[in-house]
Amino acid sequence: MAEKMYYPNSELAREAHCASMEQYKRMHEKSIKEPVQFWGEIAKQFYWETPAIEDKFFSYNFDLSKGDIFIKWMEGASTNISFNLLDKNVKSGNGDKIAFYWEGNDPEDYSRLTYRKLLEETCRFANVLKSKGVSVGDKVVIYMPMILELPIAMLACTRIGAIHSVVFAGYSSDSLAERILDSKAKVLITTDGVWRGEKLLLLKNICDEATAKAKKHGHQLESCIVVAHLRRLNNPQAMDVANVSWDDDRDVWWHDEMEDAEASCYPVWMAAEDPLFILYTSGSTGKPKGVLHTTAGYLIYAATTFKYVFDYHSGDIYWCTADCGWITGHTYVVYGPLANGATSVIFEGTPFYPENDRYWSIIDKYKVTQFYTAPTAIRSLMKFGDELVKKHSLSTLKVLGSVGEPINTEAWLWFYNLVGHSKCSIADTFWQTETGGHVITPLPGATPMKPGSATFPFFGVLPELLDEDGRVIEGEGEGYLVFRRPWPGMMRTLYGNHQRFQNTYFDRFNGFYCTGDGARRDADGYLWVTGRIDDMLNVSGHLMSTAEVESVLAEHSSVAEAAVVSKSHPVKGQCLYCFITPNAEMTFDEKLQVELKKKVRERIGPFAQPDVIQHAPALPKTRSGKIMRRMLRKIAAGDRNIGDTSTLADETVIQLLFELRPCV
Ligand code: WTA
Repeated sequence: MAEKMYYPNSELAREAHCASMEQYKRMHEKSIKEPVQFWGEIAKQFYWETPAIEDKFFSYNFDLSKGDIFIKWMEGASTNISFNLLDKNVKSGNGDKIAFYWEGNDPEDYSRLTYRKLLEETCRFANVLKSKGVSVGDKVVIYMPMILELPIAMLACTRIGAIHSVVFAGYSSDSLAERILDSKAKVLITTDGVWRGEKLLLLKNICDEATAKAKKHGHQLESCIVVAHLRRLNNPQAMDVANVSWDDDRDVWWHDEMEDAEASCYPVWMAAEDPLFILYTSGSTGKPKGVLHTTAGYLIYAATTFKYVFDYHSGDIYWCTADCGWITGHTYVVYGPLANGATSVIFEGTPFYPENDRYWSIIDKYKVTQFYTAPTAIRSLMKFGDELVKKHSLSTLKVLGSVGEPINTEAWLWFYNLVGHSKCSIADTFWQTETGGHVITPLPGATPMKPGSATFPFFGVLPELLDEDGRVIEGEGEGYLVFRRPWPGMMRTLYGNHQRFQNTYFDRFNGFYCTGDGARRDADGYLWVTGRIDDMLNVSGHLMSTAEVESVLAEHSSVAEAAVVSKSHPVKGQCLYCFITPNAEMTFDEKLQVELKKKVRERIGPFAQPDVIQHAPALPKTRSGKIMRRMLRKIAAGDRNIGDTSTLADETVIQLLFELRPCV
């Protein structure tokens, strides 16, 4: 093969949980041939109030012709996740171990929580939730920055069987309202506000707007619990702005409620397939999909992937930079690490504040051994040059992780050579909100790496590549990345819409879960995920659909039609390129462009702001009216090699669009 192989360093391999490719292959084979024994053995590490029924440990249907799709693991078993993550660690003598180091936006602002304290706070908050009428199956929406109260709130929900739905605190009030409505949440948890770098975000105000919007649509939120986060920062400016508006019937302060709450709370035993959480992700039709994960399977999968993929050992200090508003923050900030009794760092701020070497300072400050981040962050830090990295020792690092999008070779090599001193393994982890945990990934002590390849399937995972007609591609080739059967941590349904779940993931290729990504298998059997092949795009690791942006743009009174495609971007990976057809009497000018960008920011969130808005007096359409996005992608890229245009209703549109293309 032309690509250079990078081998795990021998010291790492010697100690690793999975120490060679032979061992990986043996374990993978067992996980596929004897899934019940394989996962049954792993499940023994956890506490089950009632055990699984042996011949019902694993059942599923991926074949629509045989009926509805279902996935069940460990039927009959009952447990409580917070009990396994917290009580079990405290009981086994790890009560004084640090669960989380917290590093604030301001470097002077930091704290820590032991397992014992985390258990206490979780129980206390579980009691607060109960006092607000929350019980098994109720939905709780969490809209918070990365502060310790966020995992506490999530864990408190699991304590009492409530279902959390964390909404990234960069989403707009519209997006938040939509998620509150869809889940019919009873309670919302937020903070007065937060500083992100030098920017102040007033979260409670956004929540007020969102709850008002939800109310207009007939849904009344019962309580809003507010952490006084800005107020406790001894910053006069912060205190001024933290005078949040208040609804006495609905709003309470977190600290007031916690004051009188009991520090113990008996866990509610949940059935294996009871819902654990909902997490919304973009759908290609525009309306977000409420991905639903359940209890037992998610627990054992989060725990096992964390242990093997980061090769976590007791004494290691792990840091994942993801926000809990995304799946990475669920599985690899909260559930996976705690299930392994790990010590992690939680960081509130950005990589660029107060200086552009903040990540590297944090790694040295806490002596981080495993560092998990996203290619977009790596690329944005590369821009500042090597000196900022070299100023720091980074000598404790052993494993580096990457997630969210394909990592380009240049970024991989920079991460490997400069940050990892050419001795750390890189885990390029491919997975999705839907998969619950890593599905294709190297194992640090075992897998020889090729920059940019996510390599091989994790235990229990059976990937295939299919051609357009659904035929399995054997050996080398490129096609649709699908999975043949479920692993324990896979999603079970889309909340409230099983039909959409089946249509989205199983209709295209019956018998397979379809990821929506393309992938290539090389001659050595390595898998290379090439990116989305549906109408989704990935901007700085945030997945969004062209449809949701288009519908926001089309709402503007001057817009007749909008079409959105992705364009490659050196830092963000992809960016949004929008074609706008104005209404007949309207002009396409600078003002309209500014308004449209602002609208997308406000309606979806700042991360979705389009980079380019192009005037399109007409769009390339087929005779049946379907917009040919494939051609628009070429125009956005400035690639005149458009291919066959004979299916277009009007072929002259292409030339016109090239002429109007702004210099970008
Ligand atoms: C993309 C994030 C290539 C992919 C955990 C997937 C990746 C989508 C990788 C899911 C990777 C994630 N290599 N592509 N290592 N990791 N992706 O749901 O397109 O936010 O379908 O989950 O991100 O994004 P999501």
